[in-house]
Amino acid sequence: MAEEAILGYLATSEEIPDSGQFASQHGFQHNDVVNVIKSLHGFRYIDAQDIKRESWVLTDEGKKYAADGSPEVQLFLAVPQEGSISKDELQKKLEPSVFKIGCSQAGKNKWVDMGKQVSRKVQHVEDKVKDLLIRIQKGDALGKDDINSLKARKLIVAQTWKGYSVKKGPNYAPTRKKVATDLTRENLQRGDWKEQEFKEYNFNAKGPPAEAGHLHPLLKASIGHYIYQLHLAYGKYVKQQLKNIFLQLGFEEMPTNNFVESSFWNFDALFQPQQHPARDSHDTFFLEVPSTTRELPEDYVKLVKRVHESGGYGSRGYMYDWKREEANKNLLRTHTTAVSTRMLYALAKQPFTPKRYFSIDRVFRNESVDRTHLAEFHQIEGLVCDKGLTLGDLIGVLNDFFSRLGMSKLRFKPAYNPYTEPSMEIFSYHEGLKKWVEIGNSGMFRPEMLLPMGFPEDVRVIAWGLSLERPTMILYGVDNIRDLFGHKVDLSLMKRNPICRLGID
Ligand code: PHE
Repeated sequence: MAEEAILGYLATSEEIPDSGQFASQHGFQHNDVVNVIKSLHGFRYIDAQDIKRESWVLTDEGKKYAADGSPEVQLFLAVPQEGSISKDELQKKLEPSVFKIGCSQAGKNKWVDMGKQVSRKVQHVEDKVKDLLIRIQKGDALGKDDINSLKARKLIVAQTWKGYSVKKGPNYAPTRKKVATDLTRENLQRGDWKEQEFKEYNFNAKGPPAEAGHLHPLLKASIGHYIYQLHLAYGKYVKQQLKNIFLQLGFEEMPTNNFVESSFWNFDALFQPQQHPARDSHDTFFLEVPSTTRELPEDYVKLVKRVHESGGYGSRGYMYDWKREEANKNLLRTHTTAVSTRMLYALAKQPFTPKRYFSIDRVFRNESVDRTHLAEFHQIEGLVCDKGLTLGDLIGVLNDFFSRLGMSKLRFKPAYNPYTEPSMEIFSYHEGLKKWVEIGNSGMFRPEMLLPMGFPEDVRVIAWGLSLERPTMILYGVDNIRDLFGHKVDLSLMKRNPICRLGID
């Protein structure tokens, strides 16, 4: 409305000298007129020049008097035409502030006699203050003296009024053309694209943030799955690089698609005694349905039972009653060494060939969750099976493997695993943290594990395992595993993080 009025006015007149006057003449709010002017100016339909004026506006007190009359007049009218009124009586008839101000102003004007009794001195008064205030409200300009007296009584305050003077601009038209933002099929069919004006491209506008930089964000799937995929995105990239390292070193990937495993393959075949605390439900998730495995290789089970109970191969064994029911129990695998064990068992059945195997997949532990532990994580596992391997070979392959991950300062500490002897914990010097951090576990599989499988006596297996989360946390500087994995992950962090490359190319 205001837009049509402005453009229409300029069709016949040179200029709108004052947007304020224009607004009141045409019955618009000045604010609306200003908004239209800004927009038309932006599209160069009009040229607008700022104008500023000092103007006066009524204070709250001023507004009250403009409506009800000045206090002096209110007081005068409360005094009877004839006779007098006691001051107390008069006070009761008026508001306290009106009475107070009224007394002093009416006294000053010599309209009334102020004593114990109050009486009129003149017959008639005019409310000049009220009239002046109304004129200010209307926007009239007043003389200096009037302004000063109203200002002194704090009935008006100065205000800078901002408006515009407006002339036609280079793109002036009596009505705003609708510019199209897109060429549509209808435009083409109707042929009106020839006349249609199109909005210019703003090549400086910033595009929306790109949805990129994280792998497999399955937006179409449920949000839960999406979050899960994002967690993996971190791991996945690191995982892919790890796979490449293993492949470069001649390792083959093991099939790790069975999260559910029997206790036999997870523990017994690894010469882990049945009383071992890790086999307690406090540490391991056992399955309720199906609670037991359907089949185990019976001949091999016999050999495993024997090595636990009475040893052999130069070992005394653990000297306890090995129970089949314990071995049958299903669980969520606690380490991928269960997979390594199955693979070695299968390998031992073949005529001997040296092998290098690796896997990177999930394992599950009944852990209390804290800043470095979750109940499930990914384990990286590597093993080399060959004749005559020594601890020196293990140290050598670990140095080779970890230096490709960017961790070239390693230290080893003697450790204990039921299935390896010797065993070593692996530490790496962290340049950022300026300290040695534990990154993995390793060892040479025991003869009590390898010989029942049927390997020749001189076959040695060196192996190591580590969590995928640990190096990922170190590489991305994440100090709480829950920021990396689980329901507390900050999605924006996932998007912001640059891809982190391991070690050297
Ligand atoms: N299975 C061990 C663990 O869970 C890692 C490991 C693998 C240790 C192979 C020695 C040999 O930590």
